[in-house]
Amino acid sequence: MTTCVVALGKIGLPLAVQIASTGEHVLGVDINQKVVDLVNAGIEPFPGEEGLSERLKSVISEGLLEATTETSKAVSKASQVVIVVPVIVDEEANPDFKAIDAATNDVAKGLTKGCLVNYETTLPIGTTRQRFLPMLESESGLVCGSDFFLCYSPERVYSGRIFSDLKRYPKLVGGIDNESSKRAISFYSAVLDFDERDDLERPNGVWDLGSSEAAEMTKLVETTYRNVNIALANEFAMHAEELGIDIGPVIEASNSQPFSHIHYPGIAVGGHCIPVYPKFYLSTDIEASLPSSSILVNESMPKRAVHSLYGSEDNALDGKKIAILGAAYRNGVKETAFSGVFPLVEEVTNLGGVAVVHDPLYTNDELAELGLIGFQLGEQCDAAIVQTDHTIYAELSSSDLPGAEIIFDGRRIVDAEKLFPIRVQVLGIG
Ligand SMILES: NC(=O)c1ccc[n+]([C@@H]2O[C@H](COP(=O)([O-])OP(=O)(O)OC[C@H]3O[C@@H](n4cnc5c(N)ncnc54)[C@H](O)[C@@H]3O)[C@@H](O)[C@H]2O)c1
Repeated sequence: MTTCVVALGKIGLPLAVQIASTGEHVLGVDINQKVVDLVNAGIEPFPGEEGLSERLKSVISEGLLEATTETSKAVSKASQVVIVVPVIVDEEANPDFKAIDAATNDVAKGLTKGCLVNYETTLPIGTTRQRFLPMLESESGLVCGSDFFLCYSPERVYSGRIFSDLKRYPKLVGGIDNESSKRAISFYSAVLDFDERDDLERPNGVWDLGSSEAAEMTKLVETTYRNVNIALANEFAMHAEELGIDIGPVIEASNSQPFSHIHYPGIAVGGHCIPVYPKFYLSTDIEASLPSSSILVNESMPKRAVHSLYGSEDNALDGKKIAILGAAYRNGVKETAFSGVFPLVEEVTNLGGVAVVHDPLYTNDELAELGLIGFQLGEQCDAAIVQTDHTIYAELSSSDLPGAEIIFDGRRIVDAEKLFPIRVQVLGIG
């Protein structure tokens, strides 16, 4: 039995490795030849995924995982296919299906009778049945539900700790029909194992959500809830600042009450997930007001951080050099999708300042490829904004930012004593 995993990115590769490490033969597909070559050489193409390097080497050396750019050929040898090609949103917040449509057409060309196709990419509700099912049927000439089977199963892991999250969270599946669900339950039960969790209402394992739509909606509910929660924390933090209150202990104390689960505020919500999926949710529930408001609040935070330095008037920064600390959207993850670094740089530039960027995960050349000007700790600057909660920023001292008079800590991570005499302003502290 061969499993084909389409897209060997930060999610697809660990998943392919997990499946292969159960002894299953896995063909991993990616359109990026460099990724395929690195995987076949047993080298992880991106840093930061706990346990991936060793586990990848091991499954490659045992011949259990092989990577290729030839999707249809790989699919033709597989009894099940898992697709984790990203869907992004365009500037008007519409989901952009180009990459996953291309992958779907390639999968369809190789589809054989009896095959199970699982989508794991986060999708707007209804996409599996209304978009992918007809594409798969028309390109393959096969009938879904009798010739092949189709299921949606959201990826719910956090990059950096994927292998432990795969065990920790129930694997949700929702088939196009009962037979598809049954086959997906049997596939995932064979390739995943689960932690015992007394806190769940049913045993941890593969959970059937009853339909592909319910499984799609679950992922959007989880992520939209987080975006709304962060927006609420940001509003609390802004009010706390006005009142001269530190929001940190307020949240900590509120969370000691059983029904409060308030996140800490942050100046930017980034990555493929939290800023994007509320927009997917809104694409079918167009009148929902809370997801829309939360997007507005969270997207306003980078501007607010810049204004907190020298005000918001035109030319308020007047040639000042502002160091943005962190390009990645979060600690330890080499990913800048929807990172707050971009709106921060834009607003610094709008106000006449010069934005330079530091990130321990990126070289100056890599930052230049992203359109950013690199900055090294120890270089002169006039002010700084902490964008990412990289662990090393907890150790920042005044000698790292010579000439700086103020640092805005948008992640509540720096140590003000180490930074003295630089004035430290923390999001949510008045
Ligand atoms: N990264 C996360 O933390 C996370 C968490 C949960 C769920 N997800 C879901 O997983 C999806 C993938 O995320 P990721 O972080 O792995 O993305 P990624 O950007 O790390 O990797 C995407 C990979 O897809 C490949 N690709 C693009 N088009 C392709 C095609 N037509 N055929 C084959 N390969 C193709 C790219 O070359 C790239 O290697 C997301 O869209 C999201 O729905 C991500």
